[in-house]
Amino acid sequence: MPGFLSQDNPFKTITIKELHPTYAAEIFGANFQDMSEEQFQEIRVAMAKYGVLVFRNTGLSDTQHVKFSERIGELDNIARYLTAGRKARYAHLELFDASNLDDNGDIITLDNPRSHYNKGNALFHVDSSFNPRRSSWSLLRAVKLPPPGTGGETEFADSRTAFEELDEGTKALLLKKHLLGAHTLLHSRKLGSPEFFKDLDPESQPMARHKIAQLHEPSGRMNLYIATHCHHIESYDPATDKLTPMSKVHSDELLHRLLDQVTQPKYVLSVDWHNESDLVAWDNTAVLHRATGGSFEGKYKRDMRRTTVHDGSSTAWGFNDGMVATGFARTLQGAMSGGTNGEEKRMGKEKEVEKGGVDVGA
Ligand code: OGA
Ligand code: MN
Repeated sequence: MPGFLSQDNPFKTITIKELHPTYAAEIFGANFQDMSEEQFQEIRVAMAKYGVLVFRNTGLSDTQHVKFSERIGELDNIARYLTAGRKARYAHLELFDASNLDDNGDIITLDNPRSHYNKGNALFHVDSSFNPRRSSWSLLRAVKLPPPGTGGETEFADSRTAFEELDEGTKALLLKKHLLGAHTLLHSRKLGSPEFFKDLDPESQPMARHKIAQLHEPSGRMNLYIATHCHHIESYDPATDKLTPMSKVHSDELLHRLLDQVTQPKYVLSVDWHNESDLVAWDNTAVLHRATGGSFEGKYKRDMRRTTVHDGSSTAWGFNDGMVATGFARTLQGAMSGGTNGEEKRMGKEKEVEKGGVDVGA
């Protein structure tokens, strides 16, 4: 029952307050300064069940945030996004920048190219579905928050329950045809700010492919792995090992229907940020999320830092064996400065781009 402390608390070292009828919990009693293995395992169990865990007032520093995250699994880092002209704002490359600040720590204006880039984060997504190896946990920590009442909540959507409650026909279609999403960061950037990114071609870069209906191994439940990074849908034939794109009409229709399914208000939870050092962790293979705007935008600092854990499940790499993650640097740089991306297109699939710098918060 949401809002109540769980009556039958199976945990010895933490207490749970459920936040929604089907998922998400606030955790009390986590000792981030010196966490026992027992408590750490309880937090893992809680994540498998709830998909979103809220920890208030953790007191975590950048270094402690990274160290704690490393206990969960191998971390992604922003090295491939850091190209000439862009420096990391912090010492740890494992920290992704989800702030509204520029390289000097000043608030970016609403017409800044990065503000346009960030608009894509306000669409429901999972982190890293555009990478060959997807992510499991994201751990987002508030370093500086805007004043209360000016917005900036983070919203979640329960994609496991959304799968379970999907109509049987669509479930069967997803499973029998082994439907998969082809994901690219460029697609969500363009959806977020279509006019600004009008010359950006999402098909100019290789896409990462992941099955849509997937077993969430930590809980044994099925999950709808969908996101606004998903550009189109393909089917997989195990007999021939071939991927076939659906027709654009069918793909668009199904994609919208699945996104509409999972983002219905009954599956959505808004999490407010109260204090600096609040930490919200979620499992990208069990929930979707998005940033929300507000009157703080362009006016107040919102400094958020995120670690991202590589998925360790058997389907982490989807259909992307051998594919190399790119930072989309030159493609976005071209689009963000009004240039074209024809050159990068010719450079071929697995070339890491050396020039230009883009945001590191997606
Ligand atoms: C992220 C993200 C949402 C927010 O860090 O991946 O989407 O509210 N953040 O900042
Ligand atoms: Mn995100």
